[in-house]
Amino acid sequence: MKEPAAGVRADPLRPEKARIIRIQPLPQGFKLFQVRFDDEQLNWEFDFKPGQFLMLSVIGVGEAPFAIASPPSRQGLLELCIHRAGRVTTALHRLKENAVIGIRGPYGNGYPIEAMQKSDVLLLAEGLYANALRPLLWYILDTRKDFGQVTLVMAVDSLPDLPLHDEFLSLLDREDITCRVCPSPAQAGAGAPSLIERVIAELRPQKVVGQNTYAVMAGEADHFPPLWDHLLQRGISKDKILFSLHRKMRCGIGKCGHCSIGYKHTCLDGPIFSYWDAQNLPEVI
Ligand SMILES: Cc1cc2nc3c(=O)[nH]c(=O)nc-3n(C[C@H](O)[C@H](O)[C@H](O)COP(=O)(O)OP(=O)(O)OC[C@H]3O[C@@H](n4cnc5c(N)ncnc54)[C@H](O)[C@@H]3O)c2cc1C
Ligand code: FES
Repeated sequence: MKEPAAGVRADPLRPEKARIIRIQPLPQGFKLFQVRFDDEQLNWEFDFKPGQFLMLSVIGVGEAPFAIASPPSRQGLLELCIHRAGRVTTALHRLKENAVIGIRGPYGNGYPIEAMQKSDVLLLAEGLYANALRPLLWYILDTRKDFGQVTLVMAVDSLPDLPLHDEFLSLLDREDITCRVCPSPAQAGAGAPSLIERVIAELRPQKVVGQNTYAVMAGEADHFPPLWDHLLQRGISKDKILFSLHRKMRCGIGKCGHCSIGYKHTCLDGPIFSYWDAQNLPEVI
């Protein structure tokens, strides 16, 4: 992997012209946008880490941060999985294929993929947050020999309602990843435990956790602490428990202060944090 580019161009605040080349409607108000820069060379130069984000602008409306949903191992095309939430995303969801947008980035720290190589990786996803693991998951699978044992545990209410659920289903048949999908409450019966409790229950019979494991979590931030305790008891070190946190952002480059947590800027020091950060910065959760 090359070092990630500091920005698309010399001025990190200047958006580059890009085009939506394909839009795939997904369940639960999401759409998958495939985008390419108009500058052909830029499509091949744009390098990033899984977990980094970019600022996308809809012309005449505004801009917002979005995680890059595709892995850096698939160059030439960027994918964004975007939920219709407010002004920018509503305008974006109205655009048609071939519409022009602006993109600047990549920003943020991303997952420490160099350090993670040769380690086992345990991916823990809760419901819709599973999408947040997509770029890391596919990066690992695209460069599979660089990683140890890979396990994905998903706690979902209903797998078919998950955006991109067919991709997750396709993993069940693969031999290079162990995939566990926790049952829906309906399947589990009345008084079913919470999603996170089911993740923990699913982990118990597994011998997938140890000192050489990175645990990457995607879920509701206030559901993390019980899992942290569990993972620490299993011997995972604090710097190897990773999760992503989002705050409102404006500049994306550490200048405006909108995204601060304590003395950290989530746009520079995050959005990927470790348990170590959470312990030293209680405001994180
Ligand atoms: C690093 C990062 C990566 C993100 N990646 C994605 C992604 O891949 N897909 C996706 O659909 N969304 C993602 N988001 C969230 C997205 O940026 C916000 O929902 C954004 O506000 C949408 O812009 P809008 O103008 O449509 O909504 P707005 O009109 O700005 O607001 C919509 C609602 O979302 C709330 N909101 C705004 N920003 C945040 C935030 N960061 N955290 C929690 N609530 C917020 C607002 O208070 C409001 O209630 C990401 C955010 C960050 C910080
Ligand atoms: S968004 Fe401006 S400092 Fe982080």
